[in-house]
Amino acid sequence: MVLENKLGITNSAELAREEERISKKKAVSLFKNPEFDNLEVGTTDALMAIHKHLFEDIYDFAGKLRTVNLAKGNFRFAPLMYLENLLANIDKMPQSTYDEIVEKYVEMNIAHPFREGNGRSMRIWLDLILKKELGQVVDWSKVNKEDYLLAMERSPIKDTEIKVLLKSALTNEVDSREVYVKGIDHSYFYEGYTSFNAEDLC
Ligand SMILES: Nc1ncnc2c1ncn2[C@@H]1O[C@H](COP(=O)(O)OP(=O)(O)OP(=O)(O)O)[C@@H](O)[C@H]1O
Ligand SMILES: [Mg+2]
Repeated sequence: MVLENKLGITNSAELAREEERISKKKAVSLFKNPEFDNLEVGTTDALMAIHKHLFEDIYDFAGKLRTVNLAKGNFRFAPLMYLENLLANIDKMPQSTYDEIVEKYVEMNIAHPFREGNGRSMRIWLDLILKKELGQVVDWSKVNKEDYLLAMERSPIKDTEIKVLLKSALTNEVDSREVYVKGIDHSYFYEGYTSFNAEDLC
């Protein structure tokens, strides 16, 4: 099943390719764009603005909250009926230490506010928080993608692994475009979501 898109693409491999190309270009244009200087770092609004910017040429749902329940692997992301409430709580979470920032990131991943493209927009969102609060960012080229995915899959239960993994990749090179663009480099584990009905939860 191919997500409905503005490009009129009906082939999933082609959509993956185009989506990656366009969102990468958009991510580069986001870097050092003064429009984004005014974002309130660490908020849902900021994440929505990032997502909108990356995907507005591809999906109607760019920058908008999802309207379906989502699962990946064995994990069900926040049920739709709790999503807005959860996001409001995440906005209030503290972000002054490294641990607090990663804890916020883990919660935002559980919320998974968008139909697609959560990972890429969230990694930019995370870097903006780290940069503002700690003067550091993640050098994503130092993060092994399989290790990252395993740590994220584990993170709703225990966040130690993702904390250790990202900490080892922190860099002071906050203005390097190369370091930044790595974060949206699309993963090679391109698998989709399964949607589920709210009734399944009862
Ligand atoms: N089983 C899982 N449990 C919890 N979180 C997961 C699981 N699988 C993936 N994730 C998280 O979801 C993200 C992928 O979400 P999504 O597909 O919406 O984003 P993307 O930008 O298209 O992909 P990617 O992050 O792979 O570049 C991953 O980066 C990871 O953080
Ligand atoms: Mg995806």
